[in-house]
Amino acid sequence: MSLKKRIAIIPGDGIGQEVIPQAMKVLAATGIDLETTQFDWSADRYLADGVTVPPDGFTMLDRDFDAILIGAFGDPRVVTNIHAKEILLGMRFQMDLYANVRPVRLLDESLCPLKGIQPKDVDFVVIRENTEGVYGDVGGVFKKGTADEVAIQEDINTRKGVERVIRYAFEYCERHTKSDGTPRKRVLMSDKSNAMTHAGGLWQRVFKEIAGEYPQIKAEHMYVDALCMQLVRDPRQFDVIVTNNMFGDIITDLAAGLQGGLGMAASGNIHPGKTSMFEPVHGSAPPIAGKNIANPFGAILTAAMMLGHLGMLEKAAKIEAAVLEAIRQKRTTQDLGGALGTKETGDWVANWVAK
Ligand code: NAD
Ligand code: IPM
Ligand code: MN
Repeated sequence: MSLKKRIAIIPGDGIGQEVIPQAMKVLAATGIDLETTQFDWSADRYLADGVTVPPDGFTMLDRDFDAILIGAFGDPRVVTNIHAKEILLGMRFQMDLYANVRPVRLLDESLCPLKGIQPKDVDFVVIRENTEGVYGDVGGVFKKGTADEVAIQEDINTRKGVERVIRYAFEYCERHTKSDGTPRKRVLMSDKSNAMTHAGGLWQRVFKEIAGEYPQIKAEHMYVDALCMQLVRDPRQFDVIVTNNMFGDIITDLAAGLQGGLGMAASGNIHPGKTSMFEPVHGSAPPIAGKNIANPFGAILTAAMMLGHLGMLEKAAKIEAAVLEAIRQKRTTQDLGGALGTKETGDWVANWVAK
């Protein structure tokens, strides 16, 4: 049997089709002998033959691959967003990738919109519950189209789902250091339990219970509205944050702003021991798609995160160092103040990695 890691690649829509080839080029430059297989699941494919995910697509990914690298899904021609829902949320839900790990790391002072904030000040991680919450899309519409219309969107929170993601956050805290090698020490759970008492109550009880099993880790809590303010006021105070699906989605776009924008943010959708999926945090960005201006660093750092997950820590660190060097030498796309295109930025990073 081959020991090569098998990677499924799904670029998707818009800038996903531009940034994923850069990430692949950088992966190739590491010299690791990966076996990659590309899939065309996207808006184009859906509009051509009506297929979002081919039959048994998720079973195939789980069975035949060690990891999945995807771009983004979303296309103005698919107004219902059905393909994104079936491919992206389908993968998260059906493959049970319950922990969405979104590191928030400032690579260079010049990228942070806050005054006087250094890279060491922004180095936290958001662990987002990834398989339930309002994303389950349970509910319905009653008296649709009338003045009496009722729309119900349920927020699903299971004991199992809440417990496993909170435990993941404590385990993550225990096993990971900050970028400077110092241990992580704190897990903060964020909710809206002052208003949403049923779901919030479950999160509160489970958090206290699991925190009790990790006495060496400081357990903290903040309501999500206050968290948004504190993330902007002083990001130094955060270490590991665990929260539900929707709050995690929102705060990680805010946190991407601290890192230099959506073009910088990486993520992994993880179920320990199973085939996991890696994607930049950003979307398909239709207005900038096809112009060779999208920042490929989020996708490249995502590929590094995937290598780290597969145990190739040195190669992952080398890719991160290359991105850092590109930023220092201003070999970047316009959003970071550089003058290079998506492809040329990818070339520069790949060349540095290959050296
Ligand atoms: P978006 O992330 O695509 O774009 C938000 C803003 O960030 C835009 O101004 C865009 O130009 C900028 N941006 C994003 N990525 C960038 C990059 N790599 N380089 C430079 N600038 C970048 O979010 P949106 O506009 O809200 O959504 C567009 C589409 O993408 C929608 O269909 C949405 O549903 C979808 N989406 C998909 C994913 C995903 O597949 N993981 C994530 C978010 C949004
Ligand atoms: C993300 C995206 C998705 C989400 C959308 C496209 C459904 O915003 O990955 O952050 O909300 O999870
Ligand atoms: Mn999002």
